[in-house]
Amino acid sequence: MTKILVNDVLVEEQDAKVAYNDRGYNFGDGIYEYVRLYDNKLFTAKEHFERLLRSAQEIGLDIDYTVESLTELVRKLAEANGVTDGGVYMQITRGAAPRDHAFPTPPVAPVLTAFTKSYERPYEELKNGVSVVTTDDVRWLRCDIKSLNLLGNVLAKEYATKYNAEEAVQHRDGIVTEGASSNVYAIKDGVVHTHPANNLILNGITRRVIQWICDDENITFNEEPFTVEFLKAADEVIISSTSAEVMPVVTIDGEPVNGGQVGPITRQLQEGFERYIASHSH
Ligand SMILES: Cc1ncc(COP(=O)(O)O)c(C=O)c1O
Repeated sequence: MTKILVNDVLVEEQDAKVAYNDRGYNFGDGIYEYVRLYDNKLFTAKEHFERLLRSAQEIGLDIDYTVESLTELVRKLAEANGVTDGGVYMQITRGAAPRDHAFPTPPVAPVLTAFTKSYERPYEELKNGVSVVTTDDVRWLRCDIKSLNLLGNVLAKEYATKYNAEEAVQHRDGIVTEGASSNVYAIKDGVVHTHPANNLILNGITRRVIQWICDDENITFNEEPFTVEFLKAADEVIISSTSAEVMPVVTIDGEPVNGGQVGPITRQLQEGFERYIASHSH
């Protein structure tokens, strides 16, 4: 039987219920994280839970959890479900209260839920690359917060799905921000370009790992905005996320990137990523 974490308690899936007036359900008023498990170890858990605590702080959500307590809870859940390779999704909402936009006063207890998912790494796509389409970024201006409000991302991903693409690369007035659930990179003349980690994108943990690899290997990591045209003319393009890892992009809006071939810097970053999986999974 699959266990779900509800606050600090593991319950059977059919018993995991949330209130109709939970603010996560009514307003998307909450935050989340998604942590990867490789070979029974959590990858970059510290970075993920630090980001969760930051997201909580940014939305004025008071929680008692620490990086250590969250890591412990997630380990307990993965172990209970016998998940060794896959991921753990965790969200915390501002809790259940009569519906009113302003925060409940006095505050109510936040509601944490988490579940696990077993799956294999996307080997085929990592080898051959994926297709993306470009679309307007219609989201709010605090994309740095990993909030439950994902309607813009949902609509972008649905647009990609409609056009048989893996991901939608979003742009604001022609400036590439990020994917619906990934960060985006253009590699040109040996330099890795990606949008600065400001309020317009989520500062991806995989993005940070890519930055570490670039630092290790003397590859310039340039955090300056670039256009859709620049992306389409790049030598290599990648997207990254906890589940997609360092994913090559071989077509954009139906046009091939680098003749549809995965390039050498992408391969170098993928190899570096393997080393980080080995050194940063605990
Ligand atoms: C909007 C968005 N950007 C970027 C990312 C990549 O972040 P990470 O590498 O931490 O998974 C995600 C992950 O889900 C995302 O939803």
